[in-house]
Amino acid sequence: MKILVIGAGGFTGSYLFRLLSEKYEVIGTSTHNKSFEKLELSQFNETYKKLKKISPDVIYLPAGITNMDYIENNPMNTRKINVLGAANIVNYCKESNCRMVFFSSDAIFDGKSGPYSENSNPNPISEYGRQKLEAENFVKKLKNSLIIRTSSLYGWDNRNLNFISRLIGSLKSNMEFKAPTNQFYTPTYVVDLAYAALKLLEKDLAGTYNIAGPDFMSRHQIALNFCKVFGFKKELVAPVKSPQLGQTAKRPQYAGLINKKAEKELGIKFRSLKEGLKDMLKNQNFNGVK
Ligand SMILES: NC(=O)c1ccc[n+]([C@@H]2O[C@H](COP(=O)([O-])OP(=O)(O)OC[C@H]3O[C@@H](n4cnc5c(N)ncnc54)[C@H](OP(=O)(O)O)[C@@H]3O)[C@@H](O)[C@H]2O)c1
Repeated sequence: MKILVIGAGGFTGSYLFRLLSEKYEVIGTSTHNKSFEKLELSQFNETYKKLKKISPDVIYLPAGITNMDYIENNPMNTRKINVLGAANIVNYCKESNCRMVFFSSDAIFDGKSGPYSENSNPNPISEYGRQKLEAENFVKKLKNSLIIRTSSLYGWDNRNLNFISRLIGSLKSNMEFKAPTNQFYTPTYVVDLAYAALKLLEKDLAGTYNIAGPDFMSRHQIALNFCKVFGFKKELVAPVKSPQLGQTAKRPQYAGLINKKAEKELGIKFRSLKEGLKDMLKNQNFNGVK
């Protein structure tokens, strides 16, 4: 089986690439990282030609623009990548009978009543959420495709872009870290996400699956748990409310995802935040990015 990971240098993409490569022939892409094939989602014709040449059996698509505030300020440019770029991959898969695994987010919900199941009604309140939902709707038209929704990912990432990486950076420098008490998620260990994404494929499952940790907690609680496991001073974590962060894009208050369907059908248990953090602590030298 030949697998293509679009965005193999990203946070999720790098873990996926590593794991899949243990068993399968895997080709990764990046817009700039020379260890991978070059692929730019907004260049539709070039991308299509490249896919034809590679001719994969399966395409994983964790790639896209993920900075919510940047997307809010740049809806047109980012839509070209996140929505139309994904639709282009769908068209290729339809024509070539290739399986597609798309990564989506709990940001498709309004955050009034999370955590959400696979059957909850989406109602995005940010441009990022709207783009993820639109892309999902394209992917859903593809028979046999998989949509993996996830929430607040954490794990080692040497680009320091995710919440925990930024937190580590601040605490190591003894700097205060502002964490909102009114944004709730189900923190998800990136290692578990990659494993579940492989198992969903191997079990030949299709449709929408929530892949998320079992804890439902605010960013502030996530940060305090981190301090406890890693031995940082919890006084450095300042409780704030969303407006104090000056974020452009609205964040859902109660987001998060219920993982029961995936746990049952895959026969696995996703790690709690404490278990995931302890695993990170054990693997301090792990570098998720190739
Ligand atoms: N992180 C979270 O907490 C979270 C939560 C919920 C859902 N998700 C979803 O999970 C997926 C993975 O998230 P992540 O945090 O792992 O993402 P990430 O680290 O931001 O990685 C995004 C990847 O997209 C690639 N990319 C960006 N623009 C591109 C373009 N124009 N053409 C081709 N590739 C492009 C980047 O490639 P380069 O290496 O070339 O820059 C990078 O590898 C996303 O779909 C995201 O919406 C993430």
